[in-house]
Amino acid sequence: MLQKGSQMLLLWALGLVWLTCGFTTVCESAMGANAASKNDCYRKTCMEIKYDIREAVCCENRLDSGAGLSCCGQQSFNPAVATCCKVEHGKATTALTQGLSETVSACCELKAYDSLNEICCQSTILAKPAPKAQCCGKEAFDEDKQMCCGRNRTILTRNSTHHQCCGDDQYDMKTQCCCEKNETLTVQPKDSSCCAEALGASEAFDEDKHMYCGRNRTILTRNSTHHQCCGDDQYDMKTQCCCEKNETLTVQPKDSSCCAEALGASGVKNKNKNRPQLNCTSLCGSSCYNPNMSRCCERNQTKARWCCTPGMTGKCDAVPTVYDPKKQVCCDGCVSEKRPWIDQCCGETPYGLAQRGVLCCNNTLYKDREDGEECSESNIPYNPAKGTICCSQFHGSPGQHCCGAEVYWPQTEICCNGHRNPKVENMHCCGVKAYNIKDPQMKCCAGTLYNLTQLGRVGHDARCCGSILQNPLDVCCSREDKEVLYTNKTGFRCCGHLYYNTSLWSCCADKLSPVHQPGQHQSQTSNESRLLSVNNLNETDLCEEMLIGTVESVSLNSTVLSSVLKICGRNGTVKPLPSPHILETLNRCDSPKLIPGKTYFFDRVNVFIDFNHDSILQSLSFIISKCYHF
Ligand SMILES: *[C@@H]1O[C@H](CO)[C@@H](O)[C@H](O)[C@H]1NC(C)=O
Ligand SMILES: *[C@@H]1O[C@H](CO)[C@@H](O)[C@H](O)[C@H]1NC(C)=O
Ligand SMILES: *[C@@H]1O[C@H](CO)[C@@H](O)[C@H](O)[C@H]1NC(C)=O
Ligand SMILES: *[C@@H]1O[C@H](CO)[C@@H](O)[C@H](O)[C@H]1NC(C)=O
Ligand SMILES: *[C@@H]1O[C@H](CO)[C@@H](O)[C@H](O)[C@H]1NC(C)=O
Ligand SMILES: *[C@@H]1O[C@H](CO)[C@@H](O)[C@H](O)[C@H]1NC(C)=O
Ligand SMILES: *[C@@H]1O[C@H](CO)[C@@H](O)[C@H](O)[C@H]1NC(C)=O
Ligand SMILES: *[C@@H]1O[C@H](CO)[C@@H](O)[C@H](O)[C@H]1NC(C)=O
Ligand SMILES: *[C@@H]1O[C@H](CO)[C@@H](O)[C@H](O)[C@H]1NC(C)=O
Ligand SMILES: *[C@@H]1O[C@H](CO)[C@@H](O)[C@H](O)[C@H]1NC(C)=O
Ligand SMILES: *[C@@H]1O[C@H](CO)[C@@H](O)[C@H](O)[C@H]1NC(C)=O
Ligand SMILES: *[C@@H]1O[C@H](CO)[C@@H](O)[C@H](O)[C@H]1NC(C)=O
Repeated sequence: MLQKGSQMLLLWALGLVWLTCGFTTVCESAMGANAASKNDCYRKTCMEIKYDIREAVCCENRLDSGAGLSCCGQQSFNPAVATCCKVEHGKATTALTQGLSETVSACCELKAYDSLNEICCQSTILAKPAPKAQCCGKEAFDEDKQMCCGRNRTILTRNSTHHQCCGDDQYDMKTQCCCEKNETLTVQPKDSSCCAEALGASEAFDEDKHMYCGRNRTILTRNSTHHQCCGDDQYDMKTQCCCEKNETLTVQPKDSSCCAEALGASGVKNKNKNRPQLNCTSLCGSSCYNPNMSRCCERNQTKARWCCTPGMTGKCDAVPTVYDPKKQVCCDGCVSEKRPWIDQCCGETPYGLAQRGVLCCNNTLYKDREDGEECSESNIPYNPAKGTICCSQFHGSPGQHCCGAEVYWPQTEICCNGHRNPKVENMHCCGVKAYNIKDPQMKCCAGTLYNLTQLGRVGHDARCCGSILQNPLDVCCSREDKEVLYTNKTGFRCCGHLYYNTSLWSCCADKLSPVHQPGQHQSQTSNESRLLSVNNLNETDLCEEMLIGTVESVSLNSTVLSSVLKICGRNGTVKPLPSPHILETLNRCDSPKLIPGKTYFFDRVNVFIDFNHDSILQSLSFIISKCYHF
């Protein structure tokens, strides 16, 4: 308790007054108000039209349907295949770049670029000349081999690691110096008079007489030993202070308001430290109290609200006060007398569980309730014997099942993410829609359903990349938690979810490292490192034989798995295999990174994960439902 009190004090001194009271009956009401997103069951309104945020998006009063969409100004877009860039020149302007996922892009003004392989220099997108590329004016250079020198931003090939810029030229730090002659920087031999002067000056630097101040390390002549840096200036600690004004450090007289604030905060701390003998270890607002005997109730987010003086109810004072938790209850900043049957809070109202006819839902106390009423999932009191509440909507028949805001009949319907669909044989959910998983012309990509016939595609070449049905020529790079779609480019390969230029980077087990000799392509013979998706296996491969197991440990040469099951989808059988199961690693760098404790699907060659389902049970059910012919 003492520790808690001093933490509170510290926060208080810093002006952060949002505190928890560390006491169950108080101040909990501040939470929970924001946790309502599930209760509105993903519904919002757009120009008075109700819509499901999983199915549509409302961009500046325009409703566009589609799953996973975001807004780019007035336009809707899918961040898996496009990037929105925003620039504020007076007013905000937005622009979309198609064909580049937001997960791997950055913006160069209004145009998006691939930040792994490209660089933005003065609003121009350039291919990186090297992994450690930097901008030099409008051009890019290789930091390892080049330098960007002078006012004219000239790119020079660095002669050696001990060469540095001197104006627009470079000089050898071992044999030369860079000195000022006639107001221009020139390279001179170390024994020249110009160098001697320049070196002499730096040797004369005396810390008692000079200081380096500010970000630019400006050399100042120290006025006295009690002068210190304040930004790029100095100040006299005896008569002045260095305080922050409008986000910059400024020197101010000690009696100024700026100094008073800066010093005041520390003053409060000291005052308390000096008074431990009063049995008073903490501050409650400006009064002192002992947390072992009383509680200080303080809460604040935007408005200051404090406990009022004991005995008062209703109105709250602007002053925090101490109250006695044995005799009083403090609800949402208001103190009232504790009674045996009124011992806790419902929002700002004190109440007790033993009271009859009251119900506390979402910190609101409802009175005159009938016996048997409960708080619904959407925090409205209702009587389950009289009806069903689905997403805040009351339906007059009790004991129903909810699907979104509606009730539904599980005997004849299937509920997909809050949407009712007719129940037909082999129906499974894909996002808010249901489809027949045995229909080879329907493809579900992470919650988005595609009708291949409509798109003029055939089942066996249809592959998903995340929620996108990918074009056969595109490339999907994936790792454990991400799948990212890219436009096919020669000289590029996948490394986890990244698509890298092989002349810049090399990849080993999902980890990129810079190539030391840019321009020399890596050998193209080896396979790429990526986790494959169960969802993209064709029926032959998926239904014949799949293994599933939990990774125990990973070494350079092999992976050990436990709890391995053999799934023969076609036969509808699952059989355990002896543990541990060892999976040989053919080439460590080309194997995707596997995490011990996680469960993966695998066959003799590849490792897969199921991006479409949230649990192993759902994946198993999917495989057997799809493969087994009853
Ligand atoms: C920098 O460029 C300007 C114009 O391009 C030129 O006049 C000037 O001589 C250059 N300065 C140096 C130090 O090269
Ligand atoms: C850098 O190397 C070039 C060519 O080798 C040479 O001409 C130049 O003098 C060198 N510059 C310095 C400052 O060492
Ligand atoms: C210094 O530069 C000025 C012009 O910038 C020139 O007139 C003068 O001759 C130069 N002096 C020397 C010593 O180079
Ligand atoms: C530091 O130097 C940079 C460039 O030389 C300049 O733009 C900036 O204003 C300087 N900052 C301060 C605080 O003087
Ligand atoms: C430091 O000394 C200079 C010259 O004596 C004076 O102008 C300046 O105000 C002094 N600065 C401070 C912060 O005392
Ligand atoms: C604070 O800084 C902003 C811009 O940085 C400026 O517009 C404003 O006038 C400054 N306010 C004061 C009080 O100096
Ligand atoms: C809970 O109460 C807060 C504040 O009174 C309100 O904004 C929110 O909508 C309520 N949540 C539900 C589910 O009724
Ligand atoms: C898919 O589209 C085709 C052509 O429009 C249509 O005939 C078929 O019924 C659709 N399939 C489903 C399951 O909606
Ligand atoms: C990418 O294109 C190259 C030729 O342009 C082709 O050889 C390669 O198979 C393509 N890759 C994919 C995944 O389609
Ligand atoms: C399924 O894919 C495998 C290769 O992964 C291929 O050998 C086989 O022919 C494919 N089967 C069908 C029916 O497309
Ligand atoms: C792992 O493979 C390397 C080279 O492929 C080999 O030298 C090493 O002995 C192997 N280690 C084990 C434990 O098999
Ligand atoms: C499936 O069952 C058939 C006959 O019952 C059997 O011949 C076949 O080997 C089984 N397939 C697998 C993969 O177990």
